[in-house]
This record gives sequence, structure tokens and C-alpha cells, in this order.
Amino acid sequence: MTFKEIHTQFHLKLDADYGRDEVDAMFFLLSEHFLNKKRIDLSLRPYYMLVNEELSELTQALGRLQNNEPVQYIIGLTNFYGLEFKVNQHTLIPRPETEALVSLVIESLKPQHVHLHKINILDLGTGTGCIAISLAKNIANAEVYALDNSNDALKIAQKNAALNAVEVFFFESDILKENDWVLNFKNIKFDIIISNPPYVRALEKAEMKPNVLNYEPGSALFVTDEDPLIFYRAIAELASNYMKPNGLLFFEINQYLAQETKKMLEMHNFEIIEIYPDLSGNDRMIKAIK
Ligand SMILES: C[S@@+](CC[C@H](N)C(=O)[O-])C[C@H]1O[C@@H](n2cnc3c(N)ncnc32)[C@H](O)[C@@H]1O
Repeated sequence: MTFKEIHTQFHLKLDADYGRDEVDAMFFLLSEHFLNKKRIDLSLRPYYMLVNEELSELTQALGRLQNNEPVQYIIGLTNFYGLEFKVNQHTLIPRPETEALVSLVIESLKPQHVHLHKINILDLGTGTGCIAISLAKNIANAEVYALDNSNDALKIAQKNAALNAVEVFFFESDILKENDWVLNFKNIKFDIIISNPPYVRALEKAEMKPNVLNYEPGSALFVTDEDPLIFYRAIAELASNYMKPNGLLFFEINQYLAQETKKMLEMHNFEIIEIYPDLSGNDRMIKAIK
């Protein structure tokens, strides 16, 4: 089969579900990955005859896309904040909203931070390590700590730190267990604490697409309808003991719970609490000062 013929197969089988432009984007991403050639070279050689292994990999990928598997899991890679990250079924696929959170942290650095000998940063629920690693890469004097309770996710995060040539101190630890904080961080005070914890309520599942529901880890996404702020409250309670005066707290938040999250932070004596929208205009981030 030629490159052009398999391209046509992708459109025939996927356009109805994904739309033509999205299918093109996924097809060329997969082709570049499995054929190890640049898109421009592939486009110039439509009658290139695929060898058996190439055809089999693209055909399998087509089947996986028909089953709604995210293309990032098929190639095992994604981009975040201009960097490459490995992903697998144990890690959430980093989102553009979270890139905006990283930008907000970097833009919020004050002259006193830039002149500090080092800026201690803690990322809670690190997943692929995307937040921790992007901050380590872009803040010259950052000393970055990151935790997750998933050992499988941490294995990927460690690989991603190596892939991007940064040092991050990773811990297998539970956000909800105060003892873990005491053990890991008893001698450290942070300038910046940041988290994109699980925040989707079960009642919001109806809004979600099968590529997320069937493939991304539920433990990274969901909280109960009864206590959706459980992770935010635990972090706010413990942050007091582990932050420097005027330390900055950043959260990615559930758009439907922005005011509740703000109120909870006020009750924990945070100040100058600001809510920021994502690119779609939904309330998605909070910054607060301790
Ligand atoms: C929404 S994902 C965020 C992943 C990554 N930081 C990102 O922004 O793409 C939440 C992460 O929190 C982790 N997590 C869930 N419950 C946790 C807990 N009790 N303690 C520590 N981490 C937890 C999950 O394994 C997952 O990696």
C-alpha cells in the first residue's frame, strides 16, 4: 500500500468522528513517528510504498483511533510548554490549560524571587512531571520538588526530567496524608506551591468524551460529588506550615467551583486571591499569597 492510500483510509474511517483537519494532524503525527520522516518529505512522496512494518504500525494506530484512544498514548509522547514529554496510561495527558498555569507562575515571579539564591517550588500531583519540569527548565534558580501517589506516573516523570535535562526531586507521597508531608518536607519551606489535582466531579462525567473517560487514569481526574475540594483543602491546610512568608500558591481549578475554592482559601487566611480564565474564558486558575 502507498502512503497516499493509507492516508485515504484514515480519512474514510475517521473523518466522521474527528473531522478532516484533526485526522490530517493525527495522521502526519503518526507517520512522522512510525516512518521516522518529516511531514514535508512524506507529503512530497505520496506514492512511497510502505514496508510491511510501517503499514502494520499505521494500520494498528488507525484501529486504536477508531476505538477513541488518544493519539498521544499511541505514540507515547506529547508536547507541553515547548518541551517533549513521555506519556502512558498511568499519566494524564498534559493540557493547554496547564501550560497557562505554568506561564502564570513564571509571569508572577517578583524581583525578590529572581534575586533569591534559589526558589523552592513544590508541585503536588505531578503526573508526567509537566509542571515541575517546565518550571525547572524556565526558572534558572529553581529547586523543584514534585510528588504523586502513583509510582507508575513517577517512573514516567523521572524519565521526562532526564529527557529534558533538568533535576527535579520526586517523592511518592499522598497529598491527603499529613504524615507524608512531615516526613518529606520537614526541613523545607517553599516559595511557590503549585498543583493541578484531581477536580472533576462524578456528575460532570456526562460532559466528557470517550477518549478521556476510557483511557486517561480516573485517579488523576475524579473527585466525589460530596467533597470536590478535598485536595485543595488539604493543600491549603498544610501549605501554611510549609510556605515562606509571602509564598505564592497556584491551583488549576474546576471552572464550576472557582468561587467555592476562593472562599476556602480565604478561610485558610490566604490573601490577594485572584481567579484567572483559560483560553476558552472559563475560570481555570487561582493565585493566592500566604
Ligand atoms: C489532574 S492530574 C495532574 C497531572 C499533571 N500535574 C498535569 O498537570 O498534567 C492529578 C495528579 O494527581 C495525582 N494524585 C491523585 N491522588 C493523589 C494523592 N492522594 N496524592 C498524590 N497525588 C495524587 C494523580 O496520580 C495525577 O497524576
